[in-house]
Formats: sequence, C-alpha cells, structure tokens
Amino acid sequence: MTDIETRDQELVSLDEAANLVGKTPHNIRDYIQRGRIAKFNENGERIYRAKNGELRVSMKELRTFLSLIDQGLEKHHHAGLHPELGFHSLPEYKRTKHVHRLHPYLGKFIPQLVEWFLGRYFKEDDIILDPFMGSGTTLVQSNEMKMHSIGIDISPFNCLIANVKTSNYNIEKARSEILEVEYRVTQYSKYLTKSDEADLILFPEERMENLNSSLLHECESEYLKTWFAPRALLEMLYYRRLIPHYYYKDLLRVVLSRAVRSSRLIPHYDLATPKAPLPVGEIYWCRKHNRNCTPIDNCLTKIHAYSEDTARRLEQFNELRSDKVVTVIQADSRYVNLAEKTEDTVIKGRLIDGIFTSPPYVGQIDYHDQHNYAYELFGFPRNDNLEIGPKKKGKSRQAQSDYIDGIVAVFKNALPFLKNEANIFIVANDRFQIYPEIAKKSGMKIVDQFLRAVTKRTEQGDNPYQETIFLMRKEN
Ligand SMILES: C[S@@+](CC[C@H](N)C(=O)[O-])C[C@H]1O[C@@H](n2cnc3c(N)ncnc32)[C@H](O)[C@@H]1O
Repeated sequence: MTDIETRDQELVSLDEAANLVGKTPHNIRDYIQRGRIAKFNENGERIYRAKNGELRVSMKELRTFLSLIDQGLEKHHHAGLHPELGFHSLPEYKRTKHVHRLHPYLGKFIPQLVEWFLGRYFKEDDIILDPFMGSGTTLVQSNEMKMHSIGIDISPFNCLIANVKTSNYNIEKARSEILEVEYRVTQYSKYLTKSDEADLILFPEERMENLNSSLLHECESEYLKTWFAPRALLEMLYYRRLIPHYYYKDLLRVVLSRAVRSSRLIPHYDLATPKAPLPVGEIYWCRKHNRNCTPIDNCLTKIHAYSEDTARRLEQFNELRSDKVVTVIQADSRYVNLAEKTEDTVIKGRLIDGIFTSPPYVGQIDYHDQHNYAYELFGFPRNDNLEIGPKKKGKSRQAQSDYIDGIVAVFKNALPFLKNEANIFIVANDRFQIYPEIAKKSGMKIVDQFLRAVTKRTEQGDNPYQETIFLMRKEN
C-alpha cells in the first residue's frame, strides 16, 4: 500500500485533509456544510456537532466526492449517499405505479422509498402511522405489504385523495360509474359545441333550454370563472352536477379534479405553480414542448385521458391490496386524539409499531394552495392557517422556530401511542439542520441517518437536492 492509500483509510483533521488533496481547509469545511461529506470524531463515530479540535473527515469519502466533482456528477451523487436509495434507474411508470398516479400532488415521495424501509424494519400486521399523510403513499404501501396504517392530514382534499386511493371498491361498479359519467359529459359536450348529435339524458329537474345558464348559476367561484375557458368551465360544472347521482362520489371527484387541474388556462411548463391565467385562444411559447402551444379550451379531453386510466389503476391495486385496516384522519396532528379516532377499528387499543412520514419542509410548499382549483370546485373547508411550515410564511429564523414548535408538537402528541422500541422514520430535507433539535425537544433520539439524492420526485421540479431519512426512537 502506498502512503497515500494508507492515509485514505484514515480519519484526518481539516488541515491534514486539505493538505492531502491540495485544497484549503475552508474548501473542506464548505463540503461538510453542504452535506457532501460527513463529520466524524477521533473514534470514528459520526457526529453532528464537533467539540473543539475533535472534528475529523474520512479521506476515502473526501476522495470519492472529489472524483465525482471531476466527472461533473457531484450535483446528483455524492459521498455519503445510500447506494440503494437513489432509485435513479427506476422508470417513471414504476415510480407512479397503480393508484399512486390517481392525482398529482406536489411533494409526494416515491413508493419504493417507503417499501424499502417497511420491508426491512417492519413485519406483517404491524401498525404504521403517518402524521403528515399527504396523498397517502405510506398508507398504500403499508396496505400492499400487509400492514395496518393510520394517516393524518390537515388538508381535507389530501384526505380525499388518500381515501380514494386506499378504499376498497367493487371494481366493476367503479369502472362502470366512471365510464358512464365520461359518456354523459361527452354527450353534453356535443350538445354544447353542436359538433354532433347529442344523446343527452336530463334529470327530471333539468331543462334543455336553460341547461348552460343553470350550470353557470351554480358556479359562485370567481377563480373558476377566471382560470378556465368557457367551454371547459361548463363541462366541468356538468360533471360536478352528475356526481351526487352515483355511489363512488369521491372517486368521481378525484377523476374530475385531475382533469380540471390539467384544463386550467396555464402554460404546460407550469402546472404546479401557475402565476396567472393565459388569455383564451392565445398562442404562447412553451418551454416544455419547445414550440408554440395554445391553452386548452375544454375539459373533456382530460376527462377522456383520466377516466379509463383511473379505472385501470384501481384494478391494478385491487390485485395487490390486503385486508389490513387503513384509517385516514382529517385533523391537526398536533392535537388529534389518536385513541378516540381509532376506537372503531380493529387496531383499537394496540400500540403503534412505527412511523414513516415526510413532514412539510420549512417554507417550501403551500399544501392547500397547490389544489386551489379543487377547493374552489368542491367547496371543501380550508385549513391553510394550520399548516406547519407553509411557503407563505417563508424561511426566516422566526419561520424556522415556529416550524420546530409545530413538528415537535406533532411527535409529542403521537409518541404516547407508540411502542417503546418503535422505529420512527422521518424523511426531511434538513437544510437548516434543525432535526437534531426537533428530536431532542420531542423526546426522541436519532439512531441512524440515510442520505439520498432526490433527482426525480414524482411531482417536483428538476432541481436535485439531498434528503435525509432519520431513524429515531423514543428516548425512554
Ligand atoms: C411533504 S407532505 C407529505 C407527502 C406524503 N408523504 C405523500 O407521499 O403524499 C406534508 C403534509 O403535511 C400536511 N400538514 C401540514 N401541517 C399539518 C398539520 N398541522 N397536521 C397534519 N398535517 C399537516 C400537509 O397538508 C401535507 O400534506
């Protein structure tokens, strides 16, 4: 072994490391602060805060990182990342398999990440809690892996999505309802555009001569009147009117909401965070398709696109689902009484085996606002002011401090319902390095950390970033 190879196995101080790789100690400190290489103490233990003179870095890790810089790869892959948790080669259709693609949701994690941890740390019949349930990824995967699950979310629309994904369906009936509504809206559209003879069956209370005006009369939302072309608006209002006549109402709401989201007068490249509606019919330069595009003027195209797709995805999940209990709770996780909410289920009285969750990140996303159109369409109550760490509150010191209080309150509220040895997985983009404080204040200890590069969230922008999966346990 050469001298340099021997030293590569070693943990060295910042000055020594800088010397060995021809960089300055300032460079090395910068790699640490950006989370590219880890901190160790003299005993080779990973540490998060170094006492005076104690800080060491791994030469092996440093050299790997520097070689990735040379290859221009360090942005996506860097030292310390868990090799199996990147899921870089996983094709899109697998990351959005079956019901995970029933409705877009900014900030959901990929099902394979949940699977990886559930499969290694839990077993059949365990109970998994997700106090920041979002669109229900943890619940779907728990059920698929024969585990019970409880999900809590503050947003009524997120709970609707999670409920629709995890409900048990008579698949034939669900399919026939989705396709029947699609057919009826198609007929209405023909009538509206006078493109073809329409087979329009009206309900007894409806009259042909004032059909359109009565639909518009039902629309009180200025938002809907502004963000949709006139034809799109009428088609979605007609769909909405049909829903109460069917059994799987929430399922139909999800199909409609997904179609409505894609029918807004917005550029194709900005589906997640549109600023203002485009003028109806006016051509715009589309950054996504690299050509001129015209804003969509109808909703029917998207209803066609998502009806059959939804039925098929339900069928796929139906083949995989287990009979384990899924409980969706619409509530504030800081204060919800879990014992009360699970009283009527078979998991009543049992302690929870673990948590798998991804809390909101400080000042990143407004979770109600991203589904504005759905709130306007269905009139669900909004709890924006109860969201922890919303984008509109920013990332200031005050925002971070409020965030810490909020997340701590959630874990303190949940811990009494967990087994003492419960594994608590928290997926976080901890750029402010506040999770060690959150753990301490909540009465938990960090027992392990897994780093992964996020290059392809299912509904996220293209900017890669690093995410930590903390494994915590109760401080007993
Ligand atoms: C990062 S998302 C979770 C995404 C989820 N893992 C998925 O795959 O869909 C965080 C969620 O926390 C919810 N949330 C924010 N504040 C909350 C609170 N006080 N109580 C319960 N849920 C809250 C938001 O509505 C949002 O859906």
